[in-house]
Amino acid sequence: MKLTAAAALLIGAARLAQARTVVAHFMVQNTPQYTLADWQNDIRAAQDIGIQGFAMNIANYDYEVNQSSTAWQAAEQLGFKLFWSFDMAGGSMSMQQIISLVAAHANSSATYRWNNKVLVSTFSGENQGPDQWAFMKSQLASQGVQVAFAPAFISYRHANQFNSMLSSFPAVDGFFNWWAWPEDSPTNVTTTDDIAMQNAIHSQRTGPYIMAVSPWQFKNLGSGTDNDWVEFCDQCWDYRWRQAINDVKPDIVEIISWNDYGESHYIADINPKVDLQDAAKYVNGFEHGPWRTMGKHFINWYLNSAQPAVTQDQVVFWYRSHWKNDVCSSGLRPRNADFVQDAIFVEALLTSSATIAMDIGINNHREYVAPAGASSGWVPFPSSDNEIPFIQIIRNGQVVKAIHGSKFISHSCSVYNFNPWVGVL
Ligand SMILES: *[C@@H]1O[C@H](CO)[C@@H](O)[C@H](O)[C@H]1NC(C)=O
Ligand SMILES: *[C@@H]1O[C@H](CO)[C@@H](O)[C@H](O)[C@H]1NC(C)=O
Ligand SMILES: *[C@@H]1O[C@H](CO)[C@@H](O)[C@H](O)[C@H]1NC(C)=O
Repeated sequence: MKLTAAAALLIGAARLAQARTVVAHFMVQNTPQYTLADWQNDIRAAQDIGIQGFAMNIANYDYEVNQSSTAWQAAEQLGFKLFWSFDMAGGSMSMQQIISLVAAHANSSATYRWNNKVLVSTFSGENQGPDQWAFMKSQLASQGVQVAFAPAFISYRHANQFNSMLSSFPAVDGFFNWWAWPEDSPTNVTTTDDIAMQNAIHSQRTGPYIMAVSPWQFKNLGSGTDNDWVEFCDQCWDYRWRQAINDVKPDIVEIISWNDYGESHYIADINPKVDLQDAAKYVNGFEHGPWRTMGKHFINWYLNSAQPAVTQDQVVFWYRSHWKNDVCSSGLRPRNADFVQDAIFVEALLTSSATIAMDIGINNHREYVAPAGASSGWVPFPSSDNEIPFIQIIRNGQVVKAIHGSKFISHSCSVYNFNPWVGVL
């Protein structure tokens, strides 16, 4: 497709009209026990850190349909936005069911719109083929519902595959690049693919580029390399946000995830109503809520293109509960286990410069002078067993605040758990 300069300018101008947005990927599969109050609690907790909507990952035409209606009701009450993210890998829904779900909420004030069109996303779905997605859009258009389709076709991971994806799928308006983590490598994920994909969308289509930002990636569901992995993501809840803020400046950031416990990247509190099933063995007791404290700072920064002033000194810190080389009494050692760093990671959020001191075990001290705003550091795991870290903020020779972590690091492990515990000082 060739655009004249004038047409490209028009697309650019239309694009500028829409403010940046932050949403979080929400697993509707985890809500069979939810009431309206549960949805309201999740929405308020998300709004509290500046998240404006949920991408509703629905896999099957079952209880998830009713739960989604309740979600839309809560979102309408609370001024929150929702859009569908059809999970084409985890379930089985017909295109007619997909169409009926989009239509059912198309008129709602809570439905997220991209330039007045109803945004529809996916996880996977490239196997449906181009005609099915074109059919989805044309059927909805015939009902008066204009759709902006921004799928996460996960097999198109790299920029060099992207133009052929766009020419194969004329129905694609925007894109959600799912890949917030490095690809089985002990290196930080880069923005090369994000920037190339965003440029391609912006020059060839009218939909949004949705960039994925995630704090972690670990799954250990016990059936081999397809279900037991960790990705090198020790510090990506910091650097990936900085990539979004400084380098990519995407139309939309989608946090992966709000409540996907199985992949250990949840930032929601663990709702005891959720049946964690096999993931319980590595999720129970491993709270991630303090990551929201960090997320709030970066979300505000991205939305306003300026680092917000910090009004309260805090340090968020996270660490795994056993060494990566420990032999645990059950389960499989995850793929890429060697990549992770045996360390306690900290993110300081400071009103003004201070020293962040990190101690664990004997003679295992590190400190750094942290500036005002957000900064990161780490201290290695100790040589002694069964230890908890001690973190301090020191300013002008005075301890401003100090805390011990409440999860011990121990060589004794019943399962291979590469999911971190997250605390806040
Ligand atoms: C959805 O709700 C309707 C009305 O409340 C009820 O009749 C139906 O059984 C529910 N379906 C499921 C799958 O829960
Ligand atoms: C949405 O609004 C349009 C136009 O007012 C109407 O034709 C359509 O029936 C509505 N759809 C639903 C599901 O209420
Ligand atoms: C990844 O990024 C973090 C934070 O910017 C940095 O400290 C670390 O050295 C990087 N790691 C690698 C392997 O490049």
